[in-house]
Amino acid sequence: MQLKISPLYITSVLFVAKATAWSDPYNHTFIAPTAADWRSPCPGLNTLANHGYINRDGMNITIEAIMNGALDAFNVNWDTILVAAKFGLLSGSDATTFSTLGLGPLSLHNLVEHDASISRNDYGPDGTGDNVHFNETTFQTLANANPGFDYYDPTSAGMVQSARLADSVANNPNVTNTQKEFLLRSRESGLYLSIFGNATTGVAPKEFVQIFFREERLPIEEGWTKGPTLITVDTLRPIETVIRNASDWTEQAVHCEPLLLGSGITFN
Ligand code: HEM
Ligand SMILES: *[C@@H]1O[C@H](CO)[C@@H](O)[C@H](O)[C@H]1NC(C)=O
Ligand SMILES: *[C@@H]1O[C@H](CO)[C@@H](O)[C@H](O)[C@H]1NC(C)=O
Ligand SMILES: *[C@@H]1O[C@H](CO)[C@@H](O)[C@H](O)[C@H]1NC(C)=O
Ligand SMILES: *[C@@H]1O[C@H](CO)[C@@H](O)[C@H](O)[C@H]1NC(C)=O
Ligand SMILES: *[C@@H]1O[C@H](CO)[C@@H](O)[C@H](O)[C@H]1NC(C)=O
Ligand SMILES: *[C@@H]1O[C@H](CO)[C@@H](O)[C@H](O)[C@H]1NC(C)=O
Repeated sequence: MQLKISPLYITSVLFVAKATAWSDPYNHTFIAPTAADWRSPCPGLNTLANHGYINRDGMNITIEAIMNGALDAFNVNWDTILVAAKFGLLSGSDATTFSTLGLGPLSLHNLVEHDASISRNDYGPDGTGDNVHFNETTFQTLANANPGFDYYDPTSAGMVQSARLADSVANNPNVTNTQKEFLLRSRESGLYLSIFGNATTGVAPKEFVQIFFREERLPIEEGWTKGPTLITVDTLRPIETVIRNASDWTEQAVHCEPLLLGSGITFN
């Protein structure tokens, strides 16, 4: 049987291809932040802002905007990040948005921000305590993980978590290491693997992951596209199970941390 391709079909394929390459109707071009834009210790939220999936100035951002942006940009479902977002709102005084100082107050230590991060230093007054900005030295543990392969996977991610925590325990006398931090850290690892790699296996090209952390940019020019699999707590579960096991974690304290409230919030 002869395969018939109509001129109309060819025309429309060409048109679609051209339109996709040419237009950015939603204005999601990467633009690095200026000094006037608020950013957080979270490379995920910062990337959403740098691409205009949430307000580029980092101000007046609702939880709903974050949930929609994460879905649109990363194919990340709300169920994986809603708890962090709700906690995060306690960093500011506005009832429903990240407004006063925008995303900045998310750096509040031990609210969502935690020790033993993979791309930031621990909070502290000793000069290495910049818990907000990307630090290339600190990032070397992840950058050099899984030697001999061009990808990261859940086992390498767990080993990175283990090494980063050992560094904090050795060097930070105030390290906080409870179940809360462990769950957050494992979720964050699960997200970078699932977004930049295969959301079923958690195998992610190193190049894509490194660009995300270093530049807070989607590596579209380098060939990354949003994955076909919706990333949910159900898809993360098997990946995080391997991460947690490989991180060989033990809790250092079982305690209820003091209630944390951002500036401008008081109980009356
Ligand atoms: C949009 C999907 C998200 C992605 C892909 C994402 C990804 C990440 C990753 C990979 C880290 C680890 C950084 C590191 O250890 O150096 C991180 C940290 C963080 N995330 Fe997100 N995140 C997302 C959503 C959120 C939400 C909704 C909040 C709260 C509003 C949040 C707040 C934070 C904070 C405060 C940190 C700093 C923790 C620390 O390392 O001390 N993130 N995130
Ligand atoms: C795209 O976003 C940038 C940064 O917010 C803005 O300056 C520019 O006017 C926008 N362009 C369009 C076509 O909306
Ligand atoms: C954005 O947030 C700032 C600081 O809370 C506030 O002054 C401003 O009115 C808000 N803008 C909008 C459009 O809601
Ligand atoms: C640990 O916390 C104490 C009390 O808050 C502070 O004085 C000290 O500088 C902190 N040390 C480090 C390394 O963060
Ligand atoms: C990055 O982290 C290293 C190791 O903790 C520290 O010595 C260095 O000062 C940090 N760099 C910046 C720019 O903060
Ligand atoms: C992810 O890996 C699974 C298992 O190897 C495979 O079946 C699937 O096709 C992969 N997905 C993508 C988008 O490559
Ligand atoms: C758990 O981690 C240990 C090493 O820490 C490894 O030998 C074992 O295979 C892992 N088990 C699973 C189910 O990943």
